[in-house]
Amino acid sequence: MAKKRVLVVNGPNLNLVGTREPDIYGARTLDDAEGLLRAYARDHEIDIDFFQSNLEGEIINFIQKNADAAGIVINPAALTHTSIAIRDAIAAVKVPSVEVHLSNIHAREEFRRVSYIAPVCIGQISGFGINSYVLGLEALAGYLNDKEK
Ligand code: DQA
Repeated sequence: MAKKRVLVVNGPNLNLVGTREPDIYGARTLDDAEGLLRAYARDHEIDIDFFQSNLEGEIINFIQKNADAAGIVINPAALTHTSIAIRDAIAAVKVPSVEVHLSNIHAREEFRRVSYIAPVCIGQISGFGINSYVLGLEALAGYLNDKEK
């Protein structure tokens, strides 16, 4: 079986996870999340392209440039709640995507309960700290394997 290339896309301020509001986002860093994902990927014939940007346009360019990827795990961070442009990029490239969040966005402020991105994703995982990323990748891998059958 050929290896599948999966993009892991991270939005604004996620580079600060570990020190940023640790009571909400936990003490583990984005590097820790990347390490967990790479370990999962090694065992499951997946290649990961890991990307973080604080700029909406850079995220859109990254998605467009990698339209041939097998899947996307995306934590759009605050852009979850504002970005029609990222939603449109995912819809345009038609790459199966899973939205993930460290915190449970449905248990927080009202404005975080709305995701512009979720409707163009297969599904959403929210509230498990950096394990949300691994759960998201696992869900995506299961979806891609089922599609092959
Ligand atoms: C977040 C939730 C967003 O509401 C917030 O703006 C973030 C991080 C999360 O992973 O819990 O930056 O996406």
